Amino acid sequence: MTRVLTLLGIESSCDDTGAALVRHAPGAAPQILANCIAGQTELHAAYGGVVPEIAARAHAEKLDLMVEAALAEAGLGLADIDAIAVTAGPGLIGGVLSGVMLAKGLSLASGVPLIGVNHLAGHALTPRLTDQQAFPYLMLLVSGGHCQFLRVDGPDDFTRLGGTIDDAPGEAFDKTAKLLGLPQPGGPSVEREALAGDPARFAFPRPLLDRAGCDLSFSGLKTALMRARDALVAEQGGLTQQDRADLCAGFQAAVADVLAEKSRRALAQCPDITGFAVAGGVAANKSLRAALERVAGQVPFLAPPLALCTDNAAMIAWAGLERFRDGHRDDMSLSARPRWPLDTTAPALIGSGKRGAKA
Ligand code: KG4
Ligand code: ZN
Repeated sequence: MTRVLTLLGIESSCDDTGAALVRHAPGAAPQILANCIAGQTELHAAYGGVVPEIAARAHAEKLDLMVEAALAEAGLGLADIDAIAVTAGPGLIGGVLSGVMLAKGLSLASGVPLIGVNHLAGHALTPRLTDQQAFPYLMLLVSGGHCQFLRVDGPDDFTRLGGTIDDAPGEAFDKTAKLLGLPQPGGPSVEREALAGDPARFAFPRPLLDRAGCDLSFSGLKTALMRARDALVAEQGGLTQQDRADLCAGFQAAVADVLAEKSRRALAQCPDITGFAVAGGVAANKSLRAALERVAGQVPFLAPPLALCTDNAAMIAWAGLERFRDGHRDDMSLSARPRWPLDTTAPALIGSGKRGAKA
């Protein structure tokens, strides 16, 4: 298909309600016409994690407002849209259902075609939206809900080279912050503390480096940090500012080392790729980015702007656009899927992270 396409994207798989409009003219760079997002951090703050029922209700309340806001920002109406793309999984089922129901309603009422999108495909195809990255490339997804290496050969062609067998790295950052009394989200707090710390003071483990392949594990690292903290508290009656900084620096260095080494292995498995990209909130971490960029060597390293690294609807509109251009269409039988691996041939990983199958 060679004409200009404009897609509406809808995202509601975890705790961000998003609607976006993306336009692509063949031969030109894709354009994000609007990218609206409403977070829910304050709704879940008292519970120490995302509460699925609260999330679903908030999505149901905000989704149509986000769609209206996105259309208004782009100065478009439904009649100007070629297709409606919606996250159909994986994620918290109530939220995914809210999005799918809205998209079906809009499609039915307007006659605009419907496309179901895998949330992970949205993340994995982002380098094509931001940098027009050509296939094949390697993607490392690192967030609070997921951690996996994907070889991307096409809009619908993903090979999972490895992933976490327990927690996601973002969860480990958040837990570390909690254990040390630092504010949430933990990643930015730990990164800030680590600036003044000595990464060599504590000998934290590098989990799974002794095992071949690209699988990862972060729960042992979390336990090691807790033991080191408890030993200091037992010995001194508390933690000094320097202790906190050293613990953060040691933890962050261990995460970066493990991700860098596993990235090196993933890159070695894909000698033909033309780019190495990261996505997910943890990709905001500067020392991690630097470590990954070093490992990439001659392969161009891509880190999309943070707003497009974390959950957003522009990536869903873009993934939908690629699918639409390839002839995919969904109908009213589209269902919401809590679990939906991108690579159905890869063996199931043992864990999916404490936040469940968010993404
Ligand atoms: O992609 P994201 O916004 O949502 C999820 O998919 O979970 O990622 C959020 C995660 C949180 O666990 C947060 O602590 C982590 O990303 N994060 C970071 C940094 N900024 C956010 N982790 C390490 N360093 C950072 N600078
Ligand atoms: Zn996500």
